[in-house]
Amino acid sequence: MLTPSSAGSWAGPQVRTGCESRVIPLLQGRVHAGHITAEPYAPPISGTVLEVGAGTGTWVSVYAGFVGRSPRGGGPAVTRVLGVEPNAASQVALREAVAASGLEGVYEPVPCGIEHLAATGAVERGSVDCIVVNLVLCGIPEPQHNIKELYSYLKPGGRIYVHEHVAVNRGVAMWLYQGPSSLDRFSVPPLLLGSRHNPRKQSHHVSMLIAFRCRKLL
Ligand SMILES: C[S@@+](CC[C@H](N)C(=O)[O-])C[C@H]1O[C@@H](n2cnc3c(N)ncnc32)[C@H](O)[C@@H]1O
Repeated sequence: MLTPSSAGSWAGPQVRTGCESRVIPLLQGRVHAGHITAEPYAPPISGTVLEVGAGTGTWVSVYAGFVGRSPRGGGPAVTRVLGVEPNAASQVALREAVAASGLEGVYEPVPCGIEHLAATGAVERGSVDCIVVNLVLCGIPEPQHNIKELYSYLKPGGRIYVHEHVAVNRGVAMWLYQGPSSLDRFSVPPLLLGSRHNPRKQSHHVSMLIAFRCRKLL
């Protein structure tokens, strides 16, 4: 698991520019204890991959580098990617990104949230090799239920690759920045404080994800 650094963009249209120096090594398995490693620590993404919250397809072209042959180590390739994305407004851009990356027939947008994936029949539970969760936990409903739901799609020995905002507990600047939004721990109406991006709540969601883990990448 990695978290966005304070350097570069970690939200908005420039998110890939700001984060790809961390997200690509994560998908290559070159992360250990929250740091990027020179050599692979874990296997890269391979087989059937579930990209949760694919958005407008920001990361779609990255998957092209894992199809056919893994970029490092020559391990098994990615054969199928399911891009789960509930926002109807993102679907056209997501499909355009798939076409532009030459991934038609490999990358399949699934227009629903993780909570409705089973009903689509797009993928069997217990059939996914890898799940990618990239800046998504802040937006999913009922995280406790849906994080458990995510795990139900993994094969035994499957892996989850996580890149998320979390609470930072050092430095006055970050304390000031993150502190006010943490007020919703005291039941301040979430709409007032934009709690969907509350980094302290987010840390709790990441902890839940890890509590359900089947392979330790931290
Ligand atoms: C901050 S955006 C990140 C998008 C993309 N992963 C990226 O890094 O650019 C969060 C995404 O999660 C999606 N999302 C919200 N609820 C979801 C759910 N229940 N299941 C799957 N994705 C969801 C949103 O529609 C949005 O596209």
